[in-house]
Amino acid sequence: MTLLEVDNLKVHFPIRRGLFKNVTDYVRAVDGVSFELHPGEIYGLVGESGSGKSTIGKSIVNLHRVTSGNILFQGKNITHLTNTEMKPFRKEIGMIFQDPYSSLNPKKCVLDIIAEPLRNFHRLTPKQEKEIVQAYLEKVGLSPDSIYKYPYEFSGGQRQRIGIARTLTLKPKLIIADEPVSALDVSVQAQVLNFLLDLQKEFQLTYLFIGHDLGVIRHICDRIGVMYRGRIVEEGTSQEIYENPQHIYTKRLISAIPELELINRKKKALFRKQMAEEYKKTYAHFFDENGRAYDLKSITPTHKVALP
Ligand SMILES: Nc1ncnc2c1ncn2[C@@H]1O[C@H](COP(=O)(O)OP(=O)(O)OP(=O)(O)O)[C@@H](O)[C@H]1O
Ligand SMILES: [Mg+2]
Repeated sequence: MTLLEVDNLKVHFPIRRGLFKNVTDYVRAVDGVSFELHPGEIYGLVGESGSGKSTIGKSIVNLHRVTSGNILFQGKNITHLTNTEMKPFRKEIGMIFQDPYSSLNPKKCVLDIIAEPLRNFHRLTPKQEKEIVQAYLEKVGLSPDSIYKYPYEFSGGQRQRIGIARTLTLKPKLIIADEPVSALDVSVQAQVLNFLLDLQKEFQLTYLFIGHDLGVIRHICDRIGVMYRGRIVEEGTSQEIYENPQHIYTKRLISAIPELELINRKKKALFRKQMAEEYKKTYAHFFDENGRAYDLKSITPTHKVALP
């Protein structure tokens, strides 16, 4: 069974210029993206800044107007729902936003921030509400006494945990985690990642995990979609993407992962140099005359590459 199906999704933002703000062109942020998520899996979307990853995530939770294509959740088409129609799905699909500094309302205390989604769906007494919020605070490793504090009193990592607790209270089936650790200190990154993985096991969650750090993605994702300029250029299991990359953009991304082992550094530097040369020589082969990546073609049952 498929939990989420994204089918030929396009999200184009109008560019307006001049006195009358006429639409002169479009930013093709997402330009024909398809992928599926199966229950319990972690699917990673990677790609450079501006490649359209967040736009896909936000489109799934109905924060962007979709230009064309379809988004199906448990077989139901949720592409063009109104806010009211979308409400039952807000319980099932949670989103952890990219920026822990701007995604929490600074005027609300932690209790209100975390309880807000609960209030939209359940009738709880203040006591029940407080108990649930405190239980989730503990789950994310924060003190239950924090409920009356405000976002400014927390570090970035702690704020991200507050955002995670808020997303979790409704026990969503699908969580879209948009770079949940990118804004955090390296020292807390691993802690938050491990925490997200524990939760996945505990609640049998499905994750759409967005990131640009292939080193992180590799360790946590079952399958990966590599994005470049609004298109998926390669998709496969983590192993296929890392050990047998086929698209020149994927190869370059992988060659850019820093090598931590001292003895492998020389080898890696050489590989990076080779990739840079291969990139220059073969780039044109991977894109059509408009510079657009080709449609994906299957090369194994799980591995797809955008080839002519
Ligand atoms: N609301 C908007 N209006 C106009 N253009 C937008 C809007 N949101 C995103 N874009 C543009 O769409 C493109 C994709 O943006 P998006 O935020 O999806 O990229 P991203 O892959 O998440 O990048 P990053 O890794 O930096 O978070 C960018 O060119 C961006 O400027
Ligand atoms: Mg983003």
